[in-house]
Amino acid sequence: MEPSQVAIIGSGLIGRSWAMVFAAGGFKVKLYDIAQQQLTSALENIRKQMKDMEKSGVLKGALSADQQLALISVCTDLKAAVEGATFIQECTPENLELKKKIFGQLDLIVGDNVILSSSTSCILPSKLFTGLKHVKQCIVSHPVNPPYFVPLVEIVPHPETDPSTTERTYALMKKIGQSPVRLNREIEGFVLNRLQYAVISEAWRLVGEGVMSPTDLDLVMSDGLGMRYAFIGPLETMHLNAEGVSNYCERYAEGMRLVLNTFGPVPEFSGEAVQKVNQERPNEERIFIKKRKFLVIQKRRLNGQPMIYAHGDQ
Ligand code: NAI
Repeated sequence: MEPSQVAIIGSGLIGRSWAMVFAAGGFKVKLYDIAQQQLTSALENIRKQMKDMEKSGVLKGALSADQQLALISVCTDLKAAVEGATFIQECTPENLELKKKIFGQLDLIVGDNVILSSSTSCILPSKLFTGLKHVKQCIVSHPVNPPYFVPLVEIVPHPETDPSTTERTYALMKKIGQSPVRLNREIEGFVLNRLQYAVISEAWRLVGEGVMSPTDLDLVMSDGLGMRYAFIGPLETMHLNAEGVSNYCERYAEGMRLVLNTFGPVPEFSGEAVQKVNQERPNEERIFIKKRKFLVIQKRRLNGQPMIYAHGDQ
């Protein structure tokens, strides 16, 4: 059977990674860009990454690197790129006018069955897709960089997106091994960046107010909270840190409210505080060579007994 076909619009950082994800899933991929040079370098880069990963035994999918590479072709003609595609993932620069222009062009050439999906990090679907003839087929599938290694995809519908578009996108993401999550309605920052900004703003206030050094603040996350959050989410943490969520609320709601009421206003992210956050910063190399020796994961049952305990050398 002919493999299903997808089109990737824009062959930069994100487009390349999506192409690899789909090829690993056995999909035929047409990679489109306005710049031939970008396509040439994308193909070279993808080939190198796939070959390296194959050598180290971490290439995704059931196909060899050569088989996956054979599934990817490049093209500078938009109509030819989307011909036969059942799913189109747009990955052009984060610029509303540019993206609107591209979706406007796609709107004129696609049929009624293809899904028009955008990788946008923060443009709301209502800004991007309103007025398009095929708005029911439009959706945001926001990846996390690089999608080949980080599976989360935020699926954000336009108010007029057909539920079947959301369902099909969700199913497709699952099929290619990503970890899709659905937003029931659009909201600024989607969810990942809202959570990220909540953490950044409190980190910023704490350092800005001199409560902690920037280096120590980062350790609180990388050697503390972050280790937990790599495995369980904040709501599951509530569930596991007490005898369930309602018990957690009984125990900690008052304390949480007390602390939360001391949070300051939204920071300006400018002025003196920028210097404070900048100081004491170890160089990049030090950050990257720092490796963990081991990992301990513990989840508790509601009765307080350890549920999962894992310990592994990296
Ligand atoms: P990039 O700048 O690396 O790549 C953009 C590509 O689009 C370039 O190859 C460029 O030649 C091409 N392009 C420009 N105009 C075009 C047009 N009219 N038609 C077709 N291709 C065109 O950008 P990047 O980082 O890959 O971002 C792409 C999208 O993904 C953006 O919306 C961004 O917000 C989103 N995103 C980016 C993440 C990141 O960490 N870089 C993470 C998640 C989403």
